[in-house]
Amino acid sequence: MWRLQCRRLSTTSARAVVLPRFGGPEALELRPAVPVPDLKPREVLVRARAVSINPLDLRMRSGYGRSIFEPLLPLILGRDISGEVAAIGASVSSLTIGQEVFGALHPTAVRGTYTDYAILSEDELSVKPESVSHVEASAVPFAALTAWRALKSTARISEGQKVLVLGGGGAVGLAGIQLSVAAGCNVTTTCGSQSIERVLAVGAEQAIDYTTEDIELAIKGQFDAVLDTIGRPETERLGINLLKRGGHYMTLQGEAASISDKYGLAVGLPTATAILLKKQLQYRYSHGIEYWWTYMRADSEGLEEIRRLLEVGKMKIPVEKTFPITQVREAHEAKEKRLVPGKVVMEVD
Ligand SMILES: NC(=O)c1ccc[n+]([C@@H]2O[C@H](COP(=O)([O-])OP(=O)(O)OC[C@H]3O[C@@H](n4cnc5c(N)ncnc54)[C@H](OP(=O)(O)O)[C@@H]3O)[C@@H](O)[C@H]2O)c1
Repeated sequence: MWRLQCRRLSTTSARAVVLPRFGGPEALELRPAVPVPDLKPREVLVRARAVSINPLDLRMRSGYGRSIFEPLLPLILGRDISGEVAAIGASVSSLTIGQEVFGALHPTAVRGTYTDYAILSEDELSVKPESVSHVEASAVPFAALTAWRALKSTARISEGQKVLVLGGGGAVGLAGIQLSVAAGCNVTTTCGSQSIERVLAVGAEQAIDYTTEDIELAIKGQFDAVLDTIGRPETERLGINLLKRGGHYMTLQGEAASISDKYGLAVGLPTATAILLKKQLQYRYSHGIEYWWTYMRADSEGLEEIRRLLEVGKMKIPVEKTFPITQVREAHEAKEKRLVPGKVVMEVD
Protein backbone atom coordinates (compact mmCIF):
# COMPACT_ATOMS: atom_id res chain seq x y z
CA MET A 1 0.00 0.00 0.00
CA TRP A 2 1.46 3.41 -0.99
CA ARG A 3 0.94 7.03 -0.12
CA LEU A 4 2.57 10.25 -1.27
CA GLN A 5 4.45 12.18 1.43
CA CYS A 6 5.87 15.72 1.04
CA ARG A 7 9.08 14.96 -0.91
CA ARG A 8 8.90 11.22 -1.22
CA LEU A 9 6.85 8.16 -2.00
CA SER A 10 6.42 5.95 1.02
CA THR A 11 4.82 2.66 1.89
CA THR A 12 2.38 2.09 4.77
CA SER A 13 2.59 -1.69 4.99
CA ALA A 14 5.10 -4.34 3.94
CA ARG A 15 5.89 -8.02 4.15
CA ALA A 16 7.88 -8.80 7.33
CA VAL A 17 9.09 -11.65 9.48
CA VAL A 18 7.42 -11.12 12.82
CA LEU A 19 8.27 -12.66 16.20
CA PRO A 20 5.04 -12.67 18.25
CA ARG A 21 6.55 -14.78 21.10
CA PHE A 22 9.98 -16.07 22.05
CA GLY A 23 10.83 -19.58 20.89
CA GLY A 24 12.53 -21.74 18.26
CA PRO A 25 12.60 -21.03 14.50
CA GLU A 26 8.91 -22.04 14.33
CA ALA A 27 8.05 -18.86 16.27
CA LEU A 28 9.00 -16.76 13.21
CA GLU A 29 6.01 -15.74 11.05
CA LEU A 30 6.26 -14.21 7.58
CA ARG A 31 3.30 -11.83 7.41
CA PRO A 32 2.19 -10.15 4.16
CA ALA A 33 1.21 -6.70 5.45
CA VAL A 34 2.86 -5.30 8.58
CA PRO A 35 2.52 -1.54 9.21
CA VAL A 36 5.45 0.68 8.23
CA PRO A 37 5.62 3.72 10.52
CA ASP A 38 6.05 7.25 9.17
CA LEU A 39 9.66 8.31 8.77
CA LYS A 40 11.19 10.64 11.35
CA PRO A 41 13.27 13.52 9.89
CA ARG A 42 16.65 11.66 9.99
CA GLU A 43 15.28 8.26 8.95
CA VAL A 44 15.54 6.36 5.66
CA LEU A 45 13.19 3.74 4.24
CA VAL A 46 15.27 0.96 2.67
CA ARG A 47 13.90 -1.55 0.17
CA ALA A 48 15.73 -4.66 1.41
CA ARG A 49 17.55 -6.91 -1.08
CA ALA A 50 19.60 -8.97 1.39
CA VAL A 51 19.60 -9.29 5.20
CA SER A 52 22.19 -11.33 7.05
CA ILE A 53 21.61 -13.46 10.13
CA ASN A 54 23.60 -12.57 13.25
CA PRO A 55 23.86 -14.66 16.43
CA LEU A 56 21.96 -11.83 18.15
CA ASP A 57 18.91 -12.57 15.97
CA LEU A 58 18.86 -16.19 17.18
CA ARG A 59 19.38 -15.14 20.77
CA MET A 60 16.63 -12.49 20.64
CA ARG A 61 14.29 -15.02 19.07
CA SER A 62 14.94 -17.37 22.00
CA GLY A 63 14.30 -14.70 24.64
CA TYR A 64 17.72 -13.06 25.22
CA GLY A 65 17.04 -9.46 26.20
CA ARG A 66 13.50 -10.31 27.29
CA SER A 67 13.70 -7.70 30.05
CA ILE A 68 13.77 -5.09 27.26
CA PHE A 69 11.90 -6.82 24.44
CA GLU A 70 9.07 -8.78 26.10
CA PRO A 71 6.85 -5.71 26.62
CA LEU A 72 7.54 -4.71 23.00
CA LEU A 73 6.49 -7.97 21.26
CA PRO A 74 5.81 -8.58 18.43
CA LEU A 75 9.30 -7.75 17.16
CA ILE A 76 10.85 -7.76 13.73
CA LEU A 77 14.31 -9.34 14.00
CA GLY A 78 17.40 -8.52 11.91
CA ARG A 79 20.19 -5.93 12.19
CA ASP A 80 22.06 -6.03 8.85
CA ILE A 81 20.68 -4.87 5.51
CA SER A 82 21.67 -4.08 1.96
CA GLY A 83 19.14 -2.58 -0.44
CA GLU A 84 17.94 0.63 -2.09
CA VAL A 85 16.73 3.90 -0.62
CA ALA A 86 12.95 4.02 -1.14
CA ALA A 87 12.18 7.20 0.79
CA ILE A 88 13.96 9.69 3.03
CA GLY A 89 12.98 11.80 6.03
CA ALA A 90 12.81 15.57 5.71
CA SER A 91 16.30 16.22 7.18
CA VAL A 92 18.25 13.47 5.38
CA SER A 93 21.01 15.11 3.34
CA SER A 94 23.58 12.41 2.51
CA LEU A 95 21.37 9.89 0.67
CA THR A 96 18.95 10.07 -2.22
CA ILE A 97 16.09 7.87 -3.40
CA GLY A 98 17.26 4.97 -5.54
CA GLN A 99 20.82 4.80 -4.12
CA GLU A 100 22.11 1.38 -3.15
CA VAL A 101 22.99 1.35 0.54
CA PHE A 102 24.04 -1.03 3.30
CA GLY A 103 24.14 -0.71 7.07
CA ALA A 104 23.05 -2.06 10.43
CA LEU A 105 20.58 -1.23 13.19
CA HIS A 106 21.71 -0.94 16.81
CA PRO A 107 21.23 -4.02 19.05
CA THR A 108 18.04 -2.83 20.78
CA ALA A 109 16.06 -1.78 17.68
CA VAL A 110 12.55 -3.25 17.82
CA ARG A 111 11.69 -2.95 14.12
CA GLY A 112 14.48 -4.93 12.50
CA THR A 113 15.51 -5.60 8.91
CA TYR A 114 13.71 -8.90 8.13
CA THR A 115 11.18 -7.06 5.98
CA ASP A 116 10.74 -5.73 2.46
CA TYR A 117 10.98 -2.17 3.85
CA ALA A 118 13.21 -1.42 6.83
CA ILE A 119 13.77 1.90 8.56
CA LEU A 120 17.28 2.97 9.59
CA SER A 121 18.64 6.33 10.58
CA GLU A 122 20.87 8.15 8.10
CA ASP A 123 23.99 7.51 10.19
CA GLU A 124 23.32 3.76 10.24
CA LEU A 125 23.67 3.59 6.44
CA SER A 126 26.35 4.10 3.82
CA VAL A 127 26.45 3.84 0.04
CA LYS A 128 27.08 0.25 -1.06
CA PRO A 129 30.21 -0.14 -3.19
CA GLU A 130 29.29 -1.21 -6.73
CA SER A 131 31.96 -3.91 -6.63
CA VAL A 132 30.09 -5.97 -4.02
CA SER A 133 26.67 -7.60 -4.26
CA HIS A 134 23.80 -6.94 -1.84
CA VAL A 135 24.38 -10.42 -0.38
CA GLU A 136 28.08 -9.70 0.27
CA ALA A 137 27.40 -6.21 1.66
CA SER A 138 24.68 -7.39 4.05
CA ALA A 139 27.11 -9.82 5.73
CA VAL A 140 29.43 -7.08 6.95
CA PRO A 141 28.11 -4.06 8.90
CA PHE A 142 26.86 -5.40 12.27
CA ALA A 143 29.91 -7.61 12.77
CA ALA A 144 32.40 -5.05 11.47
CA LEU A 145 30.91 -2.21 13.54
CA THR A 146 31.17 -4.40 16.65
CA ALA A 147 34.85 -5.03 15.92
CA TRP A 148 35.28 -1.32 15.12
CA ARG A 149 33.77 -0.31 18.48
CA ALA A 150 36.22 -2.56 20.33
CA LEU A 151 39.42 -2.04 18.42
CA LYS A 152 39.12 1.48 17.01
CA SER A 153 36.80 3.37 19.41
CA THR A 154 37.82 1.67 22.65
CA ALA A 155 41.40 0.36 22.26
CA ARG A 156 42.35 2.96 19.62
CA ILE A 157 44.74 0.53 17.94
CA SER A 158 47.52 2.06 15.87
CA GLU A 159 50.28 1.05 13.46
CA GLY A 160 52.84 -1.40 14.79
CA GLN A 161 50.70 -2.62 17.72
CA LYS A 162 50.02 -6.27 18.45
CA VAL A 163 46.41 -7.47 18.47
CA LEU A 164 45.08 -10.85 19.64
CA VAL A 165 41.68 -11.96 18.33
CA LEU A 166 40.32 -14.92 20.32
CA GLY A 167 37.82 -16.63 18.00
CA GLY A 168 38.91 -15.11 14.67
CA GLY A 169 36.92 -17.52 12.50
CA GLY A 170 33.50 -15.89 12.98
CA ALA A 171 32.18 -12.70 11.42
CA VAL A 172 33.26 -10.32 14.20
CA GLY A 173 36.62 -12.06 14.52
CA LEU A 174 37.31 -11.83 10.79
CA ALA A 175 36.27 -8.19 10.74
CA GLY A 176 38.53 -7.54 13.74
CA ILE A 177 41.50 -9.11 11.97
CA GLN A 178 40.85 -7.05 8.82
CA LEU A 179 40.43 -3.75 10.72
CA SER A 180 43.64 -4.44 12.65
CA VAL A 181 45.59 -5.32 9.50
CA ALA A 182 44.27 -2.17 7.79
CA ALA A 183 45.49 -0.15 10.80
CA GLY A 184 48.98 -1.62 10.39
CA CYS A 185 48.83 -3.96 13.41
CA ASN A 186 50.27 -7.47 13.73
CA VAL A 187 47.50 -9.98 14.41
CA THR A 188 47.50 -13.32 16.19
CA THR A 189 44.26 -15.28 16.31
CA THR A 190 42.69 -18.52 17.52
CA CYS A 191 40.08 -20.36 15.47
CA GLY A 192 38.80 -23.80 14.48
CA SER A 193 40.63 -25.97 11.91
CA GLN A 194 38.24 -25.02 9.08
CA SER A 195 38.96 -21.31 9.61
CA ILE A 196 42.78 -21.37 9.58
CA GLU A 197 43.20 -20.66 5.86
CA ARG A 198 40.58 -17.95 5.96
CA VAL A 199 42.13 -15.99 8.84
CA LEU A 200 45.61 -16.22 7.31
CA ALA A 201 44.23 -15.10 3.94
CA VAL A 202 42.87 -11.88 5.47
CA GLY A 203 46.21 -11.04 7.08
CA ALA A 204 46.59 -12.74 10.47
CA GLU A 205 50.29 -13.50 11.09
CA GLN A 206 49.70 -16.44 13.41
CA ALA A 207 46.60 -18.66 13.53
CA ILE A 208 46.27 -21.19 16.35
CA ASP A 209 43.79 -24.04 16.07
CA TYR A 210 42.06 -24.15 19.45
CA THR A 211 40.66 -27.59 18.70
CA THR A 212 44.10 -29.25 18.35
CA GLU A 213 46.70 -26.96 19.95
CA ASP A 214 47.41 -25.75 23.48
CA ILE A 215 46.74 -22.07 22.87
CA GLU A 216 48.46 -20.97 26.10
CA LEU A 217 51.71 -22.52 24.89
CA ALA A 218 51.29 -21.52 21.26
CA ILE A 219 50.63 -17.79 21.67
CA LYS A 220 53.86 -15.84 21.94
CA GLY A 221 54.39 -12.32 23.17
CA GLN A 222 52.37 -9.60 24.84
CA PHE A 223 49.55 -7.68 23.18
CA ASP A 224 48.26 -4.13 23.10
CA ALA A 225 44.65 -5.24 22.56
CA VAL A 226 42.70 -8.48 22.94
CA LEU A 227 39.31 -8.92 21.25
CA ASP A 228 37.59 -11.94 22.82
CA THR A 229 34.64 -13.07 20.68
CA ILE A 230 34.19 -16.26 22.74
CA GLY A 231 34.08 -14.63 26.19
CA ARG A 232 34.35 -17.71 28.38
CA PRO A 233 36.18 -17.61 31.74
CA GLU A 234 39.17 -19.44 30.21
CA THR A 235 39.48 -17.07 27.23
CA GLU A 236 39.09 -14.08 29.55
CA ARG A 237 41.89 -15.32 31.82
CA LEU A 238 44.12 -16.03 28.83
CA GLY A 239 43.45 -12.68 27.19
CA ILE A 240 44.06 -10.70 30.38
CA ASN A 241 47.35 -12.48 31.06
CA LEU A 242 48.63 -11.84 27.54
CA LEU A 243 48.16 -8.06 27.65
CA LYS A 244 50.89 -5.47 28.11
CA ARG A 245 50.34 -2.96 30.91
CA GLY A 246 47.97 -0.31 29.56
CA GLY A 247 46.47 -2.80 27.08
CA HIS A 248 42.76 -3.32 26.46
CA TYR A 249 40.75 -6.54 26.91
CA MET A 250 37.35 -6.46 25.18
CA THR A 251 34.80 -9.26 25.43
CA LEU A 252 31.67 -9.51 23.29
CA GLN A 253 29.90 -11.46 26.03
CA GLY A 254 29.04 -8.59 28.38
CA GLU A 255 26.53 -9.57 31.03
CA ALA A 256 24.18 -6.56 31.07
CA ALA A 257 21.35 -8.28 29.17
CA SER A 258 21.60 -11.69 30.84
CA ILE A 259 21.67 -10.20 34.36
CA SER A 260 18.74 -7.90 33.49
CA ASP A 261 16.82 -10.89 32.11
CA LYS A 262 17.35 -12.68 35.40
CA TYR A 263 16.54 -9.86 37.83
CA GLY A 264 14.55 -7.38 35.70
CA LEU A 265 15.86 -4.12 34.28
CA ALA A 266 15.51 -2.07 37.47
CA VAL A 267 17.79 -4.38 39.49
CA GLY A 268 19.72 -5.98 36.63
CA LEU A 269 21.21 -2.90 35.00
CA PRO A 270 22.70 -1.39 38.18
CA THR A 271 23.92 -4.87 39.21
CA ALA A 272 25.62 -5.40 35.84
CA THR A 273 27.18 -1.92 36.02
CA ALA A 274 28.51 -2.69 39.51
CA ILE A 275 29.99 -6.02 38.32
CA LEU A 276 31.66 -4.33 35.35
CA LEU A 277 33.11 -1.52 37.49
CA LYS A 278 34.43 -4.02 40.03
CA LYS A 279 36.16 -6.04 37.29
CA GLN A 280 37.57 -2.89 35.71
CA LEU A 281 39.05 -1.77 39.03
CA GLN A 282 40.35 -5.26 39.89
CA TYR A 283 42.14 -5.74 36.57
CA ARG A 284 43.51 -2.20 36.57
CA TYR A 285 45.00 -2.87 40.00
CA SER A 286 46.17 -6.47 39.45
CA HIS A 287 47.35 -6.30 35.79
CA GLY A 288 47.41 -2.59 34.89
CA ILE A 289 45.01 -3.21 31.98
CA GLU A 290 41.64 -1.82 30.83
CA TYR A 291 38.70 -4.25 30.84
CA TRP A 292 35.59 -3.71 28.69
CA TRP A 293 32.28 -5.26 27.70
CA THR A 294 31.91 -4.33 24.02
CA TYR A 295 28.49 -3.75 22.46
CA MET A 296 27.87 -2.91 18.83
CA ARG A 297 27.01 0.73 18.25
CA ALA A 298 26.14 2.62 15.08
CA ASP A 299 29.09 4.81 14.10
CA SER A 300 29.05 6.71 10.82
CA GLU A 301 32.83 7.21 10.83
CA GLY A 302 33.31 3.47 11.39
CA LEU A 303 30.80 2.54 8.69
CA GLU A 304 32.55 4.87 6.25
CA GLU A 305 35.91 3.19 6.82
CA ILE A 306 34.25 -0.25 6.56
CA ARG A 307 32.74 0.88 3.24
CA ARG A 308 36.17 1.98 1.96
CA LEU A 309 37.75 -1.35 2.96
CA LEU A 310 34.84 -3.27 1.41
CA GLU A 311 35.29 -1.33 -1.83
CA VAL A 312 38.98 -2.23 -2.15
CA GLY A 313 38.50 -5.86 -1.09
CA LYS A 314 40.13 -5.45 2.34
CA MET A 315 36.94 -6.22 4.31
CA LYS A 316 35.10 -9.39 3.42
CA ILE A 317 32.90 -11.73 5.44
CA PRO A 318 32.42 -14.85 3.30
CA VAL A 319 28.78 -15.86 2.85
CA GLU A 320 28.39 -19.63 3.12
CA LYS A 321 24.72 -19.96 2.18
CA THR A 322 21.74 -17.90 1.11
CA PHE A 323 18.04 -18.56 1.62
CA PRO A 324 15.02 -16.68 0.29
CA ILE A 325 13.38 -14.77 3.13
CA THR A 326 10.35 -17.03 2.73
CA GLN A 327 12.57 -19.77 4.23
CA VAL A 328 13.48 -17.78 7.32
CA ARG A 329 12.79 -20.71 9.66
CA GLU A 330 15.14 -22.98 7.70
CA ALA A 331 17.76 -20.22 7.62
CA HIS A 332 17.62 -19.80 11.42
CA GLU A 333 17.78 -23.54 11.93
CA ALA A 334 20.82 -23.83 9.64
CA LYS A 335 22.66 -21.15 11.62
CA GLU A 336 21.55 -22.41 15.03
CA LYS A 337 22.44 -26.06 14.47
CA ARG A 338 25.68 -25.00 12.79
CA LEU A 339 24.62 -26.89 9.64
CA VAL A 340 26.31 -24.02 7.81
CA PRO A 341 29.77 -23.14 9.18
CA GLY A 342 29.73 -19.41 8.39
CA LYS A 343 27.56 -16.47 7.46
CA VAL A 344 23.97 -17.06 6.35
CA VAL A 345 22.17 -14.38 4.33
CA MET A 346 18.50 -14.13 3.35
CA GLU A 347 17.66 -12.71 -0.07
CA VAL A 348 14.61 -10.46 -0.30
CA ASP A 349 12.98 -10.11 -3.71
N1 LIG B 1 28.24 -7.57 22.23
C1 LIG B 1 27.82 -7.32 20.98
O1 LIG B 1 27.32 -6.23 20.65
C2 LIG B 1 27.98 -8.40 19.96
C3 LIG B 1 27.92 -8.08 18.60
C4 LIG B 1 28.12 -9.09 17.67
C5 LIG B 1 28.33 -10.40 18.10
N2 LIG B 1 28.34 -10.67 19.42
C6 LIG B 1 28.59 -12.05 19.90
O2 LIG B 1 29.90 -12.41 19.49
C7 LIG B 1 29.94 -13.77 19.12
C8 LIG B 1 30.49 -13.90 17.69
O3 LIG B 1 29.59 -13.29 16.79
P1 LIG B 1 29.77 -13.52 15.22
O4 LIG B 1 28.78 -12.68 14.52
O5 LIG B 1 31.20 -13.40 14.89
O6 LIG B 1 29.33 -15.06 15.12
P2 LIG B 1 29.60 -16.13 13.99
O7 LIG B 1 29.96 -15.48 12.71
O8 LIG B 1 28.49 -17.09 14.04
O9 LIG B 1 30.95 -16.85 14.47
C9 LIG B 1 31.04 -17.54 15.65
C10 LIG B 1 32.38 -18.29 15.61
O10 LIG B 1 32.64 -18.71 16.93
C11 LIG B 1 33.22 -19.97 16.90
N3 LIG B 1 32.31 -20.88 17.64
C12 LIG B 1 30.98 -21.06 17.45
N4 LIG B 1 30.51 -21.99 18.30
C13 LIG B 1 31.54 -22.39 19.02
C14 LIG B 1 31.68 -23.32 20.05
N5 LIG B 1 30.64 -24.04 20.50
N6 LIG B 1 32.90 -23.44 20.59
C15 LIG B 1 33.93 -22.70 20.18
N7 LIG B 1 33.87 -21.82 19.20
C16 LIG B 1 32.70 -21.66 18.64
C17 LIG B 1 33.31 -20.45 15.46
O11 LIG B 1 34.62 -20.23 14.95
P3 LIG B 1 35.45 -21.39 14.22
O12 LIG B 1 34.68 -21.69 12.95
O13 LIG B 1 36.78 -20.83 13.93
O14 LIG B 1 35.46 -22.54 15.17
C18 LIG B 1 32.33 -19.54 14.76
O15 LIG B 1 32.68 -19.27 13.44
C19 LIG B 1 28.52 -14.32 19.29
O16 LIG B 1 28.43 -14.93 20.55
C20 LIG B 1 27.66 -13.06 19.25
O17 LIG B 1 26.46 -13.23 19.97
C21 LIG B 1 28.18 -9.71 20.37
